[in-house]
Amino acid sequence: MTGKIALLTAAALMVSVQAEAQRADPRPAYHFAPKRNWMNDPNGLVYFEGEYHLFYQYNPHGDRWGHMSWGHAVSRDLVTWQELPVAIPETADVMAFSGSAVIDWKNSSGFGQGGKPPMIAIYTGHNPKAKLQSQYLAYSNDRGRTWTVHGEVLSVGSPEFRDPKVFWHEPTKSWVMIAVMALENRAVIFTSSNLKQWTFASSFGPAGGRGRNWECPDLNLLPVEGGKPGEQRWVLSINLGDQAVGGGSGGQYFVGDFDGRRFTPVEGWGGEPVWTDYGADFYAAVAWNDLPKDDPRRIWIGWANDWRYAEAIPTYPARGIMTVARSISLRKTAQGYRLTQRPVRELESLRSGEHISRQLPLGKEPVSLPIEGGAVDLKADLSWEQSEQVAITLTDGEGYQMVIGVNPAVNEVFVDRSRSGPHFHDGFANRHVARVDLSRGKVSLRLLVDESIVELFINDGEQTITDRFFRGSGGLRWSASARDGPAMLNVTAWPIKPEVQR
Ligand code: FRU
Repeated sequence: MTGKIALLTAAALMVSVQAEAQRADPRPAYHFAPKRNWMNDPNGLVYFEGEYHLFYQYNPHGDRWGHMSWGHAVSRDLVTWQELPVAIPETADVMAFSGSAVIDWKNSSGFGQGGKPPMIAIYTGHNPKAKLQSQYLAYSNDRGRTWTVHGEVLSVGSPEFRDPKVFWHEPTKSWVMIAVMALENRAVIFTSSNLKQWTFASSFGPAGGRGRNWECPDLNLLPVEGGKPGEQRWVLSINLGDQAVGGGSGGQYFVGDFDGRRFTPVEGWGGEPVWTDYGADFYAAVAWNDLPKDDPRRIWIGWANDWRYAEAIPTYPARGIMTVARSISLRKTAQGYRLTQRPVRELESLRSGEHISRQLPLGKEPVSLPIEGGAVDLKADLSWEQSEQVAITLTDGEGYQMVIGVNPAVNEVFVDRSRSGPHFHDGFANRHVARVDLSRGKVSLRLLVDESIVELFINDGEQTITDRFFRGSGGLRWSASARDGPAMLNVTAWPIKPEVQR
C-alpha cells in the first residue's frame, strides 16, 4: 500500500515537472531577467567601484506582484548581469516600493564608515495597514551587498506619495528628490543637504498625458544633438499606469529647464504628451546615478512590460524582464526637442564574428533571411519607391508571427504582434506604430530581438518601439517582403550566443 502511494506521488511529481518544463520559456539571452519569480520596475540604479547596480521591484515568494522587496543584480559592462541575494526585503508592515540610490561621496548623511562613502537607497515604504506611502532611507557600507534600514525620512501623510528619484545637483550643491503624488498626476520636488531632512521646493503637473497614476519620475540633464555647441536641456520623464500611447502603461517626457528647485518646460511646448516609446512594453525607465567621471553618457533601463497584462504573461519560472540599457540624449527636430535612445555601445561586444550581410531585392514573395536563432542584433536599411508595405517577419514552428515594417503612404513604422502567439490576454495582441517621415523612401532600423522581446530603434534612435511577443514551439524563421512595388533590404545581422547572463 505504502509502496503504491509512493509510486503515485512520484508519478504526480513527474507530471508536474513536465508541466513546468513545457511552460518554461526560452530565457532571453542578453536581457536581464531574475532566475525566478516576479520583477517590475528598475530601482536604485547606481555605479560604484566598477559595478553597475540594478536593483528592482521583486517578489521573492512568487511570480505575481506582491511582497515587494528590492532584488539586486550587478554588471561590470551593462551587458552581463549577475543576480545577487535580495537587498532590501519587505518587513511585516512595510513593502519596499520603487526608489533610487546614490553614493554619498561627502558622507553628508553620516552613514559612511572608515572614510568610505556609503551607498544610500531612498525608496517608498508602502504601508497598506496605515494607508501610507512615505520615503525611507537605507544604507550599505559593502557595495550594496547588505543594507541597514534607517527608516522613514519624508512623509506628507499621503497614501499615494511614491517613487523618489534622488540625485546630486552640483550648481546648488544639494540633493534633489523628485517623486509623485500619483493619483493627482503631480511630480513633487524636494531638496536636502544630508538625505535625511527634506524641504519642499516645487510641484509640476498635471500636464501632458494623464492617467489614473503618475509613477516613477526622473529628471536628467541631456546633451542636445544638433543644437548650439554644448547645449543641454533637462528632461522630466513620467510614467502613466494606464492611458499611455497604446492605451496601457507607458512613459512621457517634458523638455525644459531646472534650477535646482523648479522644472519649467521650454517655451512653445503645446501641452500634448510626447511619449518615450511607441510600443506597449517600456515602463518605469530611470537613469543611472554616479556614472564614472570619464563617461559623459546618461544611461537608462526600463521594465519591458505593461501593467494591463503584466501578471498574465506566459513565462516561467520568472515573470518580468528589463530592456537593454539605452544611452539617451536629445535631438533638435522640426517638431521640437526629441528624446533619442540608442542601445549602449557595450552591447556590440555580444556580436559574434559570424555575422551575415546581404543586399536583397524584395517583392511580394517572402525572401528568407539566413538568420539563425531567436537572439539577434540586426541592422536593416530599407528603401522603396512605391511599396505600400515593406516588412520583416519572424515565424515560429506553429505559424505564429511577429511583423516589423513600414507603411510609407501613412508615414508609419510598426510592430505587429497581433498573431504573435497563443492568446493569453485581450490587451496584448495588437499593432504599435511610430509616426516617422518616410517621404524620402528610406528608413534605417536597428532591431534587438531576444527570444520574446523586440526593441526597435528607428533612424538612429529617434523613436523606439518595444514589444514582447510569445510563441509556440520551433525556432524562429526570418523573412522579408514588399507589397505593391519593389523594395531593397540592406541587412547585417549578428546572432547572439544564448545564455550570456549568469
Ligand atoms: C510602478 C509601480 C510604482 C511602485 C511600484 C510597486 O510600476 O506601481 O509606482 O513604487 O510599481 O511595485
